[in-house]
Amino acid sequence: MTSHGTLVAEPVEYEVMDLKGGETRLDPVIRNNPFPFYRALRERDPVYYDPGLDLYLVTRYADAVQVLGDNDTFSLEHGYQDRYGNGFIEEFAAILDRDGGGFIRDLAIDPPAHTRLRRLIEKAFTAHRVKTLEPRIRPNVVDLLEPLAERGSGDGKRDIGGPLTARIICEQLGFDWDEVGSDKVNIWTKAVLDQIGRMQTRDAMLENARVMCELQNFIIRYIDDRQANPREDMISDIVHARLADDDNPSLSRQEQIATIRGFLIAGNDTTAAAIANVLFVLATRPGLADGLYPEVDNDRVMNRFVEEVLRLYPPVHGLFRTAMKDVELSGTLVPAGSQLCVLYASANDDDAKFEDPRRLDIERPNVGANVTFGSGIHKCVGMALARMEIKLVAREFIRRFDNIRLTVPQSELTFLPTLASQTFERLPLTFTRRQTTGAA
Ligand code: HEM
Repeated sequence: MTSHGTLVAEPVEYEVMDLKGGETRLDPVIRNNPFPFYRALRERDPVYYDPGLDLYLVTRYADAVQVLGDNDTFSLEHGYQDRYGNGFIEEFAAILDRDGGGFIRDLAIDPPAHTRLRRLIEKAFTAHRVKTLEPRIRPNVVDLLEPLAERGSGDGKRDIGGPLTARIICEQLGFDWDEVGSDKVNIWTKAVLDQIGRMQTRDAMLENARVMCELQNFIIRYIDDRQANPREDMISDIVHARLADDDNPSLSRQEQIATIRGFLIAGNDTTAAAIANVLFVLATRPGLADGLYPEVDNDRVMNRFVEEVLRLYPPVHGLFRTAMKDVELSGTLVPAGSQLCVLYASANDDDAKFEDPRRLDIERPNVGANVTFGSGIHKCVGMALARMEIKLVAREFIRRFDNIRLTVPQSELTFLPTLASQTFERLPLTFTRRQTTGAA
């Protein structure tokens, strides 16, 4: 790490991939390190038709923001629903209808249906409410990290990010954590995310359908209970919510299930992946954790550090839209009906927006301009909660540990096979308890 009065970590350089034509984001080599591919596309073919995925990859920052800001031309609802299930939608839906309380679409919808639901879900995640959660969540973080200090090792995704985020969202919703546990949440999450991940095989679909039935039946049990016995939790809020919509003032049962399922899934793997990414950055940039240690209680520094990691390694690499009419983007004609994948990870790496983009620089003047949480009307509703969880883990981890290292070569780290998210399958780490006594 170099220091010019600010916390700056040397850039991780990526080469520009040599494009020969016909490349696809599905290629395992690209999947495990997509940045050279993204950079080549931004420079040479910024709205690229990916033949493996049959969609256009939107790679530049300006194009990404334009697409996300124009909901009439670029439909989110179609972007998600038209390819839901990766070709197995009818069979999948039939299993859910038979065994799982119904086939219920995700909350990925366009206005005006979106506007109605969004007002409701925003109430659950205001910055003020999240602030009041922070003192309650910190002990969970400490409880999780302390046993690892004895071992001196742990997996950043499976032992830290995964269990923590699963527990927090379950407790917020009102699920009994002892009944659920992090393994079950991981299995549920994968079954739901596979439906939009574009890589699901038929065998995987059958297993995912079984798991999704289990999840929905579990949610329905809680809805029924909170209907009769409301408590101080999100499920009760959702079940008893009254919307500012005179014709349709409460959520249907299907909307209730979709909302609860959406919160559980959207808030879990994404935040767990972001936590693992923070730990990955600390493990692979020597000196960074020690540089941050004196500032560990400084919210400004920690928030900016987290934001830079979110920009450099966004857990959601790309999400989908459908062009509702012919449209030209950076010189490429995208025909009506085409699918687009807006690559947040590539937009965040665009040097037209971020100077020296691969450099981690917490004093970057536009540190918050990343599109890691999206942009426009669908911008992540849980981002205040996610940022707070990530900051707490970064803080308590740096406070406790130094000599943070990967136990395998970086080239051996692999990612889950899904286009939407970029999630480490495992992140094995070692570390030692800090001996230093000082500011922290
Ligand atoms: C680091 C963690 C997270 C990341 C990177 C992330 C990313 C995103 C992105 C990119 C979108 C926009 C989707 C689109 O435009 O197609 C989104 C939407 C959403 N996120 Fe998150 N998210 C995170 C955490 C959370 C949490 C903690 C929750 C809730 C518990 C949550 C709930 C949602 C919901 C409900 C939406 C849909 C909003 C809408 O369509 O109006 N997310 N998120």
